[in-house]
Amino acid sequence: MASQVVLVASFLFLLLSFGAEAATITVRNNCPKTIWPATLTSGPGQPQLSTTGFELAPGASRSFNVPAPWTGRVWARTRCSNNGGRFTCLTGDCGRGLSCNGAGGVPPATLAEFTVAPNGGQDFYDVSLVDGFNIPASITTQGGTGPCRSSNCRNDVNRVCPGELQVRSGNEVIGCKSACFAFNQPRYCCTGEFNDPNKCRPTNYSMIFENQCPDAYSYAYDDKNSTFTCNNRPNYVITFCG
Ligand SMILES: *[C@@H]1O[C@H](CO)[C@@H](O)[C@H](O)[C@H]1NC(C)=O
Ligand SMILES: *[C@@H]1O[C@H](CO)[C@@H](O)[C@H](O)[C@H]1NC(C)=O
Repeated sequence: MASQVVLVASFLFLLLSFGAEAATITVRNNCPKTIWPATLTSGPGQPQLSTTGFELAPGASRSFNVPAPWTGRVWARTRCSNNGGRFTCLTGDCGRGLSCNGAGGVPPATLAEFTVAPNGGQDFYDVSLVDGFNIPASITTQGGTGPCRSSNCRNDVNRVCPGELQVRSGNEVIGCKSACFAFNQPRYCCTGEFNDPNKCRPTNYSMIFENQCPDAYSYAYDDKNSTFTCNNRPNYVITFCG
């Protein structure tokens, strides 16, 4: 009897200690149209998640676990279609079909970025417009301790996107490129002589993103108050269009 109790107790302990080393990320689609979220694991030596792409109808949500530690990103592809058996999207396409299997999305795409710490340490997360914008997104935490503030870009940057940064489908602006992606110049990309937080300053282009979405990253060295942290194993909810 006693040994059975010990067995059950140690089994539960194993279950809990493994279960704790993971965060749940829930992706919600608040958009009026279907989106196709994708994940990319970028931490060295970390395998891709079991899901790297899926369809999400308006109003639907889907959850998946990420291990701890984990570094990666989630973004949404829009206006996808299956033409002659080839799945492609007008924004965020990864070139590999529905499952991205380790490929990133073509900019511009709003990114939800995460660095999940092991052992309940400090997680970092943010909504980033460094690779441009396609649809609004927010990250909120569940549980955890510390600031745990929402990082978000809830405004539709496409509506104020200057012509030289626009990605269009017919008359509609469906994405807004970052100045780095559009012009590929060191002062916009924080590369070369600008690869220094003191030299790579906000530009008239990054300020467009900044003004619309102060709680998102607007350029590579944007670190003022947009660093979002949370300790002790929070879970995350990413809401697209909300
Ligand atoms: C931003 O600045 C550049 C260079 O000074 C200028 O050519 C461009 O028209 C400006 N764009 C906007 C949207 O203000
Ligand atoms: C970040 O700073 C901007 C501009 O100073 C402000 O509007 C915004 O509310 C701040 N965000 C947070 C989360 O404090």
